[in-house]
Amino acid sequence: MSQPFDEGDDVGHNDSPNPHFQEVLSTRLSRRSIVLGGLGAAASTVAGLPAVAHAARQTGVIGGIDKLKFTPVAKSVADLVTVPPGYTARVLIALGDPLSPQVPPYRNDGTDNQHGHRSGDHHDGMDYFGLSDDRLRRDPLNSRRALLATNHEATTDNFLHVNGSTPRPRPAAESDKEIAVHGVSVVEIHRPRDGEFEYVKLSPYNRRITPMTAAFITGPARGSALMKTQYSPDGIGCRGTINNCGTSRTPWGTLLTGEENWSGYFTRSATDDTARGDKSVTSLIRYGKTAGSASRHGWETSGSDDKFRRFDISKTGTSTDGSDDYRNELNTFGYMVEIDPYNPTSAPRKRTGLGRFAHESGAFSHLVPGLPLAVYMGDDSRNEYIYKWVSAANWAAGDAERNDRLNVGAKYLDEGRLYVARFNADGTGEWVELSIGHPLIAGYAAYPFADQADVLVNARLAADAVGATKMDRPEWCATHPGTGEIYFTLTNNSNRKVDVTSSSQSQVDAANPRSYGDSYNGGPLGSPGNVNGHILRVREHGHKAHATSFKWDVYLFGAQADADPNKVNLSSLTGDQDFSSPDGLWFSAATGICWIQTDDGAYTDASNCMMLAALPGEVGDGSARTLSYTKADGSTLEVTTPVGKAPKPTQLKRFLVGAKDCELTGCCETPDGKALFVNIQHPGETILAADVADPNKYVSHWPGNAGYGAGGAMARPRSATIVITKDDGGKIGS
Ligand code: FEO
Ligand code: CA
Ligand code: CA
Repeated sequence: MSQPFDEGDDVGHNDSPNPHFQEVLSTRLSRRSIVLGGLGAAASTVAGLPAVAHAARQTGVIGGIDKLKFTPVAKSVADLVTVPPGYTARVLIALGDPLSPQVPPYRNDGTDNQHGHRSGDHHDGMDYFGLSDDRLRRDPLNSRRALLATNHEATTDNFLHVNGSTPRPRPAAESDKEIAVHGVSVVEIHRPRDGEFEYVKLSPYNRRITPMTAAFITGPARGSALMKTQYSPDGIGCRGTINNCGTSRTPWGTLLTGEENWSGYFTRSATDDTARGDKSVTSLIRYGKTAGSASRHGWETSGSDDKFRRFDISKTGTSTDGSDDYRNELNTFGYMVEIDPYNPTSAPRKRTGLGRFAHESGAFSHLVPGLPLAVYMGDDSRNEYIYKWVSAANWAAGDAERNDRLNVGAKYLDEGRLYVARFNADGTGEWVELSIGHPLIAGYAAYPFADQADVLVNARLAADAVGATKMDRPEWCATHPGTGEIYFTLTNNSNRKVDVTSSSQSQVDAANPRSYGDSYNGGPLGSPGNVNGHILRVREHGHKAHATSFKWDVYLFGAQADADPNKVNLSSLTGDQDFSSPDGLWFSAATGICWIQTDDGAYTDASNCMMLAALPGEVGDGSARTLSYTKADGSTLEVTTPVGKAPKPTQLKRFLVGAKDCELTGCCETPDGKALFVNIQHPGETILAADVADPNKYVSHWPGNAGYGAGGAMARPRSATIVITKDDGGKIGS
């Protein structure tokens, strides 16, 4: 979730594998599927496979689609999922659905158990991993059978328990359940020749990864002093993953899952600053964990069991290295985590090279054999930064087809360089390397870095040191399959101001140029800020992933269609296109469509959150716009920004509106582009424990009210994955 204080949790009871995992299943991959992958990789932007850049760049048109032909969906506050005429949306899997035939159907009344063997809550980022028809091997081009890997970012606790959530101290059984609904699921899905997609209950691939699943620390911070805990005194292991938000599918067929709002799950005592008395206090505060701040769920109050105790990260032990308590536990979260969905016994890898922050998705650069690859990333918090990772290894096309996928991941994601973005007012920018050798980092007075591991674990502090550009909450990023340009959603920022009066605020600048008040439901204008968010895009110098300079513009500004065209609605959005708070962002390799998903609280008086289809141009296709502000002292502040060409009606259309109180997030498709998977996250999440007994007080009853699962029209709402198909069997959005 992306709201500043929204809930996210995990505790899980996973049947965690032993730290020494048997990773043999993947070696069963046949040459057949490998050959398929090889052919695909040779042809650029073949659906379902990574794009491969060529000497000559492609145009923005992919799959022959240069216009969106569907009828746009109107804004709506109905408790439904609406798609255009000629399309059908069906629920594929929802919170609590069993991942094994031994687990009973979800009653959805708070009495259910075995959540470690059910679909988790708050479905978020998601990717499609093609599986062969005989179910034995990876087959990236199969549009009828796959493994769907899905993040379960957080939970609506009150609906997990019969009478809502119990106040602290939290009953252990409630904490166990809340932990177990977090993490990631891998679920086999299948579309019969004459039917629709369904998930497969009896599959050896079905798996839950939770905050309890044993994982490895990899990359430069593996074994670092910062990683030593009572659980792993050598600093190479850790437990689980939490608040998994955006995802990416790597070119070699694994999942990257981003840990976002992990800091909130932990607590530390009011006296912990004094107990520590070292620079770790600076790090903790920079990552939002001030002394005495409460944890989101209070799991640490559920007893002395180690699985609960770890959520209190106060320094309580007497060791000098942290091996007798959980003072360093927070350093084991905040990463891009790599998971091999084809190998259900493999341990997740925390790729520390890609930095520690509030991760969303990771966008891979177009791959060029013989050159490094890049992964682009955003840090979703107000005034945080945009980053990129550049591999030390040069891309070898055969690596897309190897069976030892996590070794390939280690090759490209454990050795390399991390950069942070600086955006200049003239439409150029630089990537600044976060290296212990950088004089501004080596000499940073606010936090003396010990080594490169320290720089990566405290990437925010290193980025502060080099003067990175503070952005309006970077959420997802995605790479255009034709142009190779990288798009970043900047969802909104209530702290973007013309007159800056506190250190938590930032002044409008070229890359984050808007600050304005908005009225909700006819009420008064709210405090100025970037209310509706925007989407920025970057073109690397020479189209090289390892370039250290780039050009950029703002592709699109979110706005109400009736907002001031000179100050707010700078992209001239119409009523069929207007949106607020872009968050999820994903390009179809089959159609080139840019899917934009919203997680909004500003325009929800007019519409539930939504998803739009776009066919963007490229950096520089528009012109500069100048915004003129009057400061409190009466002086004028002008901000000039390169803005992309306003979209035509056939280049941006609303495709879907979600159920009440939901967020749209996560998007992937079959390689043929004929089925699109989308997550409806946290419908009806606004619920008090005291109101759980009265279904009339639920904000949403979806998907029960759409006929899915137990409970019917008055059901408790459930997060779910839907699958969208076109009734004529065509490509989605075409
Ligand atoms: Fe999980 Fe920033 O959204
Ligand atoms: Ca408004
Ligand atoms: Ca998000």
